[in-house]
Amino acid sequence: MNITANKNIFVINGKRYTYAMYVNDAGYLQHAYYGKKISVSDVHYYINSIGGRLEPKSDDKNYDMAFDTMPTEYGFFAHGDYREPSVIIERKDGAAMSRLKYKSYCITDGAPDVKGMPHARNGGKTLRITLADEFSDTHIVLNYTAFDDCDVLVRNAEIKNIGKDTVILKKAFSCCIELPDDDYKFMRLCGAWAAERTPVVSRIEQGIMKIQSLRGASSHQSNPFGAFLRNGCVEEEGKCYGFQLVYSGSFSITAEKGYNGAVRIQGGINDTNFGWKLGCGDNFVTPQVALCYSDGGLGFLSRNYEDFLREHVISPEYVYKPRPVVINNWEATYFDFDNEKLFEIIDEAVELGVDTFVLDDGWFGKRNDDTSGLGDWRVNDKKLKGGLNTVIDRCKKRGLKFGLWFEPEAISEDSDLYRAHPDWAIGKDGVAPARWRNQLVLDFTRAEVVDYVLDAVSKILCEHDISYVKWDFNRSLSDFYSRTLDNQGEFAHRYILGVCELAEKLTKAFPNVFFEGCAGGGGRFDAGMLYYFPQIWTSDNTDAYERSKIQWGTSLCYPMSAMSCHVSACPNHQTGRTISLYTRANVASLGAFGYELDPSKLQDDDKCEIKKQIENYKRNESLILKGDTYRLSSPFNGKEFCIMRVSKDKMRALVVYECLRGRRTEHIIKLCGLDEDKVYLVNELGISASGSALMKIGLPLTSLGDYESVMLTLEVALS
Ligand code: GLA
Repeated sequence: MNITANKNIFVINGKRYTYAMYVNDAGYLQHAYYGKKISVSDVHYYINSIGGRLEPKSDDKNYDMAFDTMPTEYGFFAHGDYREPSVIIERKDGAAMSRLKYKSYCITDGAPDVKGMPHARNGGKTLRITLADEFSDTHIVLNYTAFDDCDVLVRNAEIKNIGKDTVILKKAFSCCIELPDDDYKFMRLCGAWAAERTPVVSRIEQGIMKIQSLRGASSHQSNPFGAFLRNGCVEEEGKCYGFQLVYSGSFSITAEKGYNGAVRIQGGINDTNFGWKLGCGDNFVTPQVALCYSDGGLGFLSRNYEDFLREHVISPEYVYKPRPVVINNWEATYFDFDNEKLFEIIDEAVELGVDTFVLDDGWFGKRNDDTSGLGDWRVNDKKLKGGLNTVIDRCKKRGLKFGLWFEPEAISEDSDLYRAHPDWAIGKDGVAPARWRNQLVLDFTRAEVVDYVLDAVSKILCEHDISYVKWDFNRSLSDFYSRTLDNQGEFAHRYILGVCELAEKLTKAFPNVFFEGCAGGGGRFDAGMLYYFPQIWTSDNTDAYERSKIQWGTSLCYPMSAMSCHVSACPNHQTGRTISLYTRANVASLGAFGYELDPSKLQDDDKCEIKKQIENYKRNESLILKGDTYRLSSPFNGKEFCIMRVSKDKMRALVVYECLRGRRTEHIIKLCGLDEDKVYLVNELGISASGSALMKIGLPLTSLGDYESVMLTLEVALS
């Protein structure tokens, strides 16, 4: 990677991409190029010929109107560019027009430390370009961080008030990128509860396409990721761009095709009802966006995002550590448990070979259903006689570790916390708050609320031997209002900053506790949460057919080890479908593996099978933690699902194939990502073949019925 700045032309080179911009004669920072790697002299040629052609002469009186088609690095408001701006700065007199002109640049080591928010860490180099607004006293710094180990370019913007008067930021997107033509499709990850991250692709037409969350969390419905696919982009071929926010709050990503056909992509904090007061000397830092250009299809894009998130976002202490294989009691008992029931699960679980027992919702306060207790983080010792320690001791005696569920942001109206502090729940006096799952949300914009929850959760963690925490969040925000906030336009962003503060403090205070994120399943599965939690509960839907789709979609931009995947009982509690234990485990083993069932209800042969599944998972775990993903067959074709993982040194691989519709004839799967010249042994089939043969000719699979599956392991054959 290198960054050069010469005669106001800035060029960032990754392994396979170039990003370039320049300052034009009128002093504006213009976008020049983002795509396949080219030389610096080619960038100069591009700017002088093609880029420059768009430019009017700076002494042209009608110059500003040319902005409507010019590619910018950060769009500003009210000056002849009628596309969506990236920033709107409103002054004391209500005026909000801007002219952002180039001021200076510097290059620094490392990625910028974005205080209080998740951000890229470890290494890289950053180009910082400062723009000055001619009309408001603000400076805008555009950061561009490039890395040696992955082709991801991290961008964000910082907006600083250098004047005396307060200004209001009515919009502050993280970055703007401009694609020179309209030959793109927009792929986004849509969904719903139990159906998260379904890829949806559509052409970008003139106007604005937008994905967003207004829920205070990134959401089940929309994920803060978009990919822009050139025609012909498929899994391992073709060109695309990725846009991934390192942010978990209300966001938006827009793709706007202008009348000249070029496409502007931008995003960041959702600007609906946003308004941030920027006093004299204040600096507003926007969330980071991880951009990726791929000329190797979606596969190359996903592998770069996986490397980026593992090397630069997820906690280095945990990212490559073997994950605890857990058994969670939620689907085994729901709220209906006591010591005896838990002991039974624990004793049986030990025999299966799991590492950790996780006690889910219902252990605290007066919580026997979802109408009460949230916020009262004290053990319910009427339900758990002798307290939590009796359960923990049972685990320890049997050699298991213990994990516990919390929902730190939630509050039930029927709770001691609510009775003591009704005003801590989000809402406005006199307005009935919207309820969801019978619960409200705590006002995390307030420091005393965050501190209270920090103390309450810390107390439980200090007083008990707990090695795992599942941090849940079971509803969207609704009544966006804080009783103590002076400027309500700051509410949604301040809320997520409060969540980040608590996550930061808890994970720092308890470095030996493994934190798993969750939000009613996968409602906050994003790079922002991955900064604090190395893995996230992928979905409440554990049906092995539905999961093949959810995991496929999630793998487009998130690491496999980040997906928490459990085998649950059948008929499946979400879909009613029955799929064999073997297939359920095969699909779940493409992620951080575990179980979500009552082991005391298992037949002996299932217990033996589970024991083997766990041993098998542990044997292959390094491929899940450290390998690369190749997606071979999409479950969205309705016929089959196939994903493989290949070790970085290409010595080992794992293939999981699930037949979705039975076929009578033999089927061939062509593998990917192997070393052409190495000879691999496919253990389960007893076949030896070169990587080239396995990729070009493929592997024969015998006929499989609906939801039948195979798992194949490959290793380089010893010569
Ligand atoms: C959410 C989670 C589940 C479980 C329940 C408990 O739905 O996704 O795994 O923890 O909450 O209430």
